[in-house]
Amino acid sequence: MDRTQKMSGRACGKLILFGEHAVVHGYPAVVAGLPRGATASVAAAAEHQLTLVNGRNGERIARARPTEDTKLGKAFNAILSKLQMALPINVNVTIDIPVGAGLGSSAAMATAAARAVATFAGMTDNLSVIESAVHESEAIFHGSPSGIDAAAALGGGAFKFQRNGDQSSMEAIWVDPVRIVICEAGPPADTKEMVQKVTNFYHTRENAVGSVFALISELVDEAAPALAEGDWQRVGDLMNINHGALVSLGVSTPALDSACHIARQAGAYGAKLTGSGGGGCVFALTDDRTEDVLEAWKDMGYSGFEMTIP
Ligand code: MEV
Repeated sequence: MDRTQKMSGRACGKLILFGEHAVVHGYPAVVAGLPRGATASVAAAAEHQLTLVNGRNGERIARARPTEDTKLGKAFNAILSKLQMALPINVNVTIDIPVGAGLGSSAAMATAAARAVATFAGMTDNLSVIESAVHESEAIFHGSPSGIDAAAALGGGAFKFQRNGDQSSMEAIWVDPVRIVICEAGPPADTKEMVQKVTNFYHTRENAVGSVFALISELVDEAAPALAEGDWQRVGDLMNINHGALVSLGVSTPALDSACHIARQAGAYGAKLTGSGGGGCVFALTDDRTEDVLEAWKDMGYSGFEMTIP
């Protein structure tokens, strides 16, 4: 271990293209890693400290020590313990995607931090330790997540993901680069609360909610080849149906619905909320219609930004 050097780690954010919430209950989903995410740096210090910085405006988001009884303090402690990092270190993580908005900021933060700490500790080869540090951090933030955010942060690319008990399977999908736009339509949402809300709904209306999950699963099965073929109109239609299914699960909001309507009217192939909902982001598949959708959102007071996936 070189104690004088500064080590760094990176991870991408994620965009759930299809299947959020249903994926928690064992149904498949499709996710893509985002070109932006988190970058961490680690250096020896007088005491352990983790600082999160918003890369989009340079402002500090949060700071924590591993002894603190906060989610961030506990997550930092989990990362340090898994990587057996006793030597005091300063970890700085710059996050360049919206935080708490359904784009996988917590998994990107944990993955970038764990990678930087592992490099500092000379444990880069030990991928399973990095993975388990990320999973533990995610469990602190989100309760019992499906693991899709962590899988995207760790691996990037586009893939079909399915959880099966404690295991999960991933199947890569080759998607030609395509332009999308993302709009932060709602306030940050609490993933744990939204997952609990849908789970409670499932327990009270098992048949009806189970049918919605089954529909989402069919959309995922049809979306995977449509994405691989670059059939954007088919992908967009499936996104619109998936958004409707999420509305029926009670996780959309008037702002998310309105951002979707505006995007479709402006020519997007399709639009849906992404992540846990209850606020957070909408994304629209736009490709050559990107500028029209950004302009329409702007006219209606929504700010959006463009990315190319995967
Ligand atoms: C959150 O990004 C996606 C959810 O499906 C929760 C999960 O899969 O852990 C809502």
